[in-house]
Amino acid sequence: MKKIGVLISGRGSNLGALIEAQAGAPYKIILVISNHEDASGLLRAQAAGIATLVIPHKGKSRETFDAELDAALKNAGVEIVCLAGFMRILSDGFVRGWEGRLVNIHPSLLPAYKGTQVHERVIAAGETTSGASVHFVVPELDAGPVIAQASVPVHPTDTPETLSARVLEVEHKLYPAALRLLADGKVKLEKGLSVFS
Ligand code: GAR
Repeated sequence: MKKIGVLISGRGSNLGALIEAQAGAPYKIILVISNHEDASGLLRAQAAGIATLVIPHKGKSRETFDAELDAALKNAGVEIVCLAGFMRILSDGFVRGWEGRLVNIHPSLLPAYKGTQVHERVIAAGETTSGASVHFVVPELDAGPVIAQASVPVHPTDTPETLSARVLEVEHKLYPAALRLLADGKVKLEKGLSVFS
């Protein structure tokens, strides 16, 4: 049973999906950390009886903030860290320290549409397909090897809101499935690649 720490910045619907899927799964979420004290995802965690912590980033260097995160995760005995709508770039040192044990969900079919304002850009480009990716985190933003992806159609009438809702629905299935693979040791980061067994 792998002990999971989840980092969030907002509503935490992916956190909610990870919580709902944990019965019978090879993972247990033991700590949820937010950099915003008003992140509503904290309430989801508390309702499920999971320990929460707020570590504000304001007024701190990236290294100081990341060192606080790292210490809190290690003190709790976290083995795998899931980013779930965590809107902070992590320092290279933090990322290297958790290499192979740090994953993120991103609302595009990576390597397409890294970064922010994804749905706006997908629509503006006239794409007919989009989706979501769970990937290992590496120092370069949204560039780590993919563990799992799911696609959705983009309709001509889509707005960023309707597309985001469609992608979110598949995110909620994809993230628990990818975390199960990682927690079971069925996927590993080796020499910069996702290796499945
Ligand atoms: C999700 O769509 C997630 O893929 C995205 O933020 C949303 C968080 O929603 N993450 C990123 O864009 C990371 N670059 P949630 O708080 O309801 O899980």
